[in-house]
Amino acid sequence: MTLLAVENVTRRYRMPRQSILQPGPVLTAVDNASFTLQAGKTLGIVGESGSGKSTLARMVMAFERPDEGRIRLDGQDLNALSASALRAVRPRFQIVFQDPYGSLDPRRTAGWSIGEPLRATGDTARAEARVAEALEQVGLRAADAQKYPHEFSGGQRQRIAIARAIVTRPALIVADEAVSALDVSVQAQILNLLMDLQDDLGLALLFISHDLSVVTAICDDVLVLEHGKTVEQGPAEQVMAAPRHPYTKSLLTAAGLT
Ligand SMILES: Nc1ncnc2c1ncn2[C@@H]1O[C@H](COP(=O)(O)OP(=O)(O)OP(=O)(O)O)[C@@H](O)[C@H]1O
Ligand SMILES: [Mg+2]
Repeated sequence: MTLLAVENVTRRYRMPRQSILQPGPVLTAVDNASFTLQAGKTLGIVGESGSGKSTLARMVMAFERPDEGRIRLDGQDLNALSASALRAVRPRFQIVFQDPYGSLDPRRTAGWSIGEPLRATGDTARAEARVAEALEQVGLRAADAQKYPHEFSGGQRQRIAIARAIVTRPALIVADEAVSALDVSVQAQILNLLMDLQDDLGLALLFISHDLSVVTAICDDVLVLEHGKTVEQGPAEQVMAAPRHPYTKSLLTAAGLT
């Protein structure tokens, strides 16, 4: 079943003007991207810094609107939904960022932050039990709900960010460089956690990374972005074994995979 369909999506940004006489130049951050993600599957988005990965992620999360094209979740055009209809589908898709401090309020307990997406949808029944369950699902203890972000290690903080993402029982998680800031050994643990959760909960993952070796290790399909343009997409194994575009080849070389 198609969970997410991105159809010919383009996003442009107007850059600051360089002269008072002319408008600033336009940067096409994402240029005509299309892909589908099936329920329970993993799609990797790779590309160098500035290639448009996070811009695509923000559009999939409906934080930002595409200038052209459409994004459908469960067949519904996200940008055609009213604010209240969007709030109603919010629990279906969640995001995990590279820096867990971005989603965890340092002055609030871990439990408060994990429960936030539930409160945002008014779904507060059994919230405490759901937070405890999410903590255990990510390999922490229910009692950790009382602790503050600074009382955890970097890897544990990323587990809390993941607990926050799964607490609404989503169908899709967008992981934007979710393991990139972690030590290699911790990175492997968090990747294993994501894969286990995916199996247990039937999650689809949109996995964004500049690291092709990580992407090929866990993704079914991969899409390669260069300056906003899709240069290659297909089954991860196939793209890895026989990259067709020179840019993909250079990413493979950079990842030490050729
Ligand atoms: N809000 C914005 N306003 C103007 N330009 C932007 C905005 N957001 C992103 N850009 C530009 O769009 C391009 C793509 O940025 P984006 O953050 O999507 O890249 P990325 O692939 O996520 O990079 P990184 O790997 O460094 O996270 C960049 O050139 C960036 O400067
Ligand atoms: Mg980014």
